[in-house]
Amino acid sequence: MNNQTRFTLNESDLPRFWYNINADMPIPPAPVLHPVTMEPVTPEFLSVLFPMDLILQEVSTEQYIEIPEEVREIYKLWRPTPLIRARRLEKALDTPAHIFYKHEGLSPVGSHKPNTAVAQVFYNKIAGIKALTTETGAGQWGSALALGCSFFDMDLEVYMVKVSYQQKPYRRILMETFGAQVFPSPTDRTNYGRSILANDPDNPGSLGIAISEAVEVAASSGGTKKYSLGSVLNHVILHQTVIGEESLKQMDLAGEYPDVVIGCVGGGSNFAGIAYPFLRQNLLEGKRTRLLAVEPTATPSLTKGPYTFDYGDTAKMAPIVKMYTLGHSFIPAPIHAGGLRYHGMAPSLSLLHNAGYIDAVAVPQLATFEAAIQFARAEGIVPAPESAHAIRVAIDEALDAKVKGEQRVILFNLSGHGNFDMSAYQAYMNNQLEDYEYPMEAICHSITDLPQVETSV
Ligand SMILES: Cc1ncc(COP(=O)(O)O)c(C=O)c1O
Repeated sequence: MNNQTRFTLNESDLPRFWYNINADMPIPPAPVLHPVTMEPVTPEFLSVLFPMDLILQEVSTEQYIEIPEEVREIYKLWRPTPLIRARRLEKALDTPAHIFYKHEGLSPVGSHKPNTAVAQVFYNKIAGIKALTTETGAGQWGSALALGCSFFDMDLEVYMVKVSYQQKPYRRILMETFGAQVFPSPTDRTNYGRSILANDPDNPGSLGIAISEAVEVAASSGGTKKYSLGSVLNHVILHQTVIGEESLKQMDLAGEYPDVVIGCVGGGSNFAGIAYPFLRQNLLEGKRTRLLAVEPTATPSLTKGPYTFDYGDTAKMAPIVKMYTLGHSFIPAPIHAGGLRYHGMAPSLSLLHNAGYIDAVAVPQLATFEAAIQFARAEGIVPAPESAHAIRVAIDEALDAKVKGEQRVILFNLSGHGNFDMSAYQAYMNNQLEDYEYPMEAICHSITDLPQVETSV
């Protein structure tokens, strides 16, 4: 019997390749469309925002893409991250299930986001770019990109959703410590921000609006600034697959294989990062692991939204993609999982969910914080409110296994720690948080504004 708690890999075990799900996609992906012409986008259009290496990764169908040595060297500061058996949580739940989690909260800024931030800054740097723009919700992505930019000596402007800017001053200070400039979005720095503020000076912001601002600044910079996105896109998910590749090796060390892999989903990158290498094993090696994406009931794109073409941002400047969406004009309730408030979902994940390869469930805020605190008290790590969604469902799975007397093996991605989220925990413990269920009527209303795309594209 294996009594080990931590399953660690050596530096030399750090993956040399990212895994590209597009090579093994069982169903063909829908095209990405230009926001004005609604024709498939060209590399020239995308090159206004992204360097060519990332565009090529976006459309690549190569199964494995080599991780550049410069990126691996930086990954070594915190990777491989440990896989931990949550023995104390298992005991607290009195479950026969085995619960494992991959601890991505051990990166320098406390989440999985630097896995792609470092790679994206690297490819921009070798393309000669001097400055990047981006948006951030909870501040996790902004701090990851600020970290990456400081390593490669790149300037960075971050458009931070205003409600998070107010709730999380320490995240802003962290970004500034790494040398980034941070603005509460909507700002008066862009045409789009000014148009929003003119109608609604107290607008709390949304990821969709912040994306529009960051895209506008890059697109109107005459090529001097490029834009960087922390989730949703194929190349972002590609970079995150180091999580799943390491987990496969570590589950092997533990002598177990997961029956279910769980992750929270905002745009889908940490979930896909851990799940896609296991999906490859399902598709190519006959494994049967259930892959389960968890979203908040306040932003239920996968569980309540339609699967359809929509804009990636609120101002309709970003490409149109086929995805589960709550509509690009979605303004989320100010729940404390700021990183899960995006209106859409990664196209690859949407496609796989639609075709039945990936399951999804939505959980409410209070039950999520209850799970977070149970996990913190058992395992000693305060999880990010986003990651707590995965914990809620991992605990539910473990309790279900107990009822059924099954020795289920559960793996979840602990996408980040919550050390900067104390105000959220305080609000929960002071009974100031509420559940919020995004109403079906609101979805029906916002999807009246979807782009009219010919079904033949
Ligand atoms: C800790 C953490 N987990 C999860 C997410 C959700 O993003 P994604 O679905 O791309 O992993 C975020 C986004 O900010 C985050 O900060």
